[in-house]
Formats: sequence, structure tokens, C-alpha cells
Amino acid sequence: MDTGNPDTDGISPSALERAARLLRPVGWPDQPSDLVVGADGFVETLPPGTPQTFSQRALDTRFTAWVYDRARDRVLRVAGMKSFEAELTAIAERLRPACDDVVLDLACGHGNFTVEWARRVGPEGLVIGVDYSVSMLRRAVTRVRESGLTNIVLVHGDAHHLPLADCSFQRVNCSGGFHAFPDLAQVLGELSRVSIPRATLTASTFAEAPHDKLARPKRWLNRRFALHFVPLLWLRDELAQKGFHDFECSLRGGGFAYTSANRSY
Ligand SMILES: C[S@@+](CC[C@H](N)C(=O)[O-])C[C@H]1O[C@@H](n2cnc3c(N)ncnc32)[C@H](O)[C@@H]1O
Repeated sequence: MDTGNPDTDGISPSALERAARLLRPVGWPDQPSDLVVGADGFVETLPPGTPQTFSQRALDTRFTAWVYDRARDRVLRVAGMKSFEAELTAIAERLRPACDDVVLDLACGHGNFTVEWARRVGPEGLVIGVDYSVSMLRRAVTRVRESGLTNIVLVHGDAHHLPLADCSFQRVNCSGGFHAFPDLAQVLGELSRVSIPRATLTASTFAEAPHDKLARPKRWLNRRFALHFVPLLWLRDELAQKGFHDFECSLRGGGFAYTSANRSY
């Protein structure tokens, strides 16, 4: 599908065509005849002025998105990961993206994982990155263009109402997103809806372990900054209710967890 828009230059026509079949923003027709990639280089599905929590607002300025891009990997070292490459390897071992897969990278931010999944699924695969922050998405657009990859479509959308069709993705990753969502149970329901049977879901999140010694300060951070340290037992049970089983989890540095689960038939 050629939209004739110069900003779609970095996306292959077949990726656009496949993405158009998977995108279902509220109010769009069932089979959109065209996919409009805006001047910023991503697909817009949110009305202007959509409300944001404190932590969502904090990551939606040019400055904070720039700082995040520069400082993220150093900060993550405090949470027990040696490097981005080590983190990527650990998540990829669970997600197992393969040639031709269709991957959702939710809360894709500045696109660090998005481009890595796109390399692994190859030119016939497709990666859709969804994020709430325009500033982060703009950085992702730059990263994607610099990568030369043509199998990525970036979408400005809300995890609570994913602008995506049912039963679409074989692999779903959400790095650093679960703790930012005001209603994670609803987001998990959405992830279940858009996943195909036997899909794999990986996520990394600030977390609260059972009998966590830091539970009180973590709950204060939640009340004060809408930074949810996700209780891991709750997450396991909630995922099971939404049809995800084989829950696995490793907690690093006392507060950051890497998790995976598989969608049942
Ligand atoms: C900590 S960043 C993670 C970025 C990247 N995945 C990484 O691991 O470095 C969290 C991202 O979640 C996004 N986010 C927060 N609330 C969201 C929502 N309701 N829907 C989609 N994305 C959301 C933020 O805009 C931000 O880019």
C-alpha cells in the first residue's frame, strides 16, 4: 500500500498493508482502506488532549525523552542488568522472536527493543510499536529510520484500549510499561485479546515480591507518582485469569522483574 506520503518512505508497502489489517482504532471502519502515517512518522489513534498520569506526563516532553534515551541503560544497571545487550538477550530467550513473526512492542518508548525484534523477525515479519508519548515516539521514529529497517510501524495509542484487531500477534513484549499503566488488569485483558493462542508475552516492570521489605516505600511511590510496583503474585493470578499460563519471573536488584507467560489455546 503506497500512501503517497513521504513519511512512509522508511516502511515497506507490504508492512503497511499488513499493519492496516491489524489496526483497529475505535471509530475506524472494520477494514480500513488506507493507513495514514502522519508527518511525525507514526500512526495517530489518540484524540488530542488525552489525559495523562504523572509518570506518563513526565516522559512526554522532548527533554525527558532525550534524558531517558541517554540514561536508561545506566539506570537499569542499578536494577541488576549488566548492559542493554544482556537485558535484550534475557528477554529474547523468553520471547523467541523468529523469522516472519508478527510482534507487538507495547510501551515501545524510544524504540530500543522495537528495532531489535524487527531485526530478528526479518523483512517478511512485522513489528508494531505502540506508545502513549509523542516525544518518545519521535525518538523511536529516528531510531527506526537510522536502522534502515522497513518492517516496523509505530502507533500513538493507549494500552488500555489497544487500537489493534483481536488475535493478531504471536509475540508480545512490554518492557518498562506495566508499572506505568493506571489499570494493568485492563491492559492484560487487551494483551490477551490481541494475542493468538500460544502467543508468548514478555514484560519487565518495577515489582513487589511476596513479603517485600520495601513494600511500604514502593506503595508510597505508587500513591505519590503513579509508579506501580506490580505485586508478582497478583500478576501471576491476573495473567492466568486472562488466559496466560506458564508464568516465569526473575527479580533483579530488589525491584525490577522480568516475566514471561504463554497464551493458552
Ligand atoms: C519506561 S518507558 C519504556 C520504554 C522502552 N520499552 C524501554 O524498555 O526502554 C515506559 C513507556 O510506557 C509508555 N506508556 C505509559 N503509559 C502508556 C499507555 N497507557 N499506553 C501506551 N504506552 C504507555 C510511556 O510513554 C513510556 O514510553
